Amino acid sequence: MSQFHHVLNVDQLPAGKTRAVTLEGLSILVCNSGGEFFAVENRCTHQGAELEGGRLRNNMIACPEHGVLFDVRSGCGKGPLGRVPLRTFALQVVDGRIEVSLEPALEASPG
Ligand code: FES
Repeated sequence: MSQFHHVLNVDQLPAGKTRAVTLEGLSILVCNSGGEFFAVENRCTHQGAELEGGRLRNNMIACPEHGVLFDVRSGCGKGPLGRVPLRTFALQVVDGRIEVSLEPALEASPG
């Protein structure tokens, strides 16, 4: 069973913003994409740059180093430099508290 940890409060992360938190030694980027919250590993799969500070737009985070785009919902990257997806983490919002688990996020199943 996945265990969730309180990492931030909703009012600490406005829409369009990201913030890195550390959970069990792992740097995780919490993202507010248009009012929806997602968590991905704060480490680009291209050459390991931190993603914090990258621009978040249309659910895509741009790596500050070489600009590869990753979808914060699925972790999938774009283009040849982004072929290795980011790890994603399950996230829930409970009473204004953002909670993250080290379990992978469940992708919405089609249909
Ligand atoms: S290290 Fe992120 S795009 Fe190169």
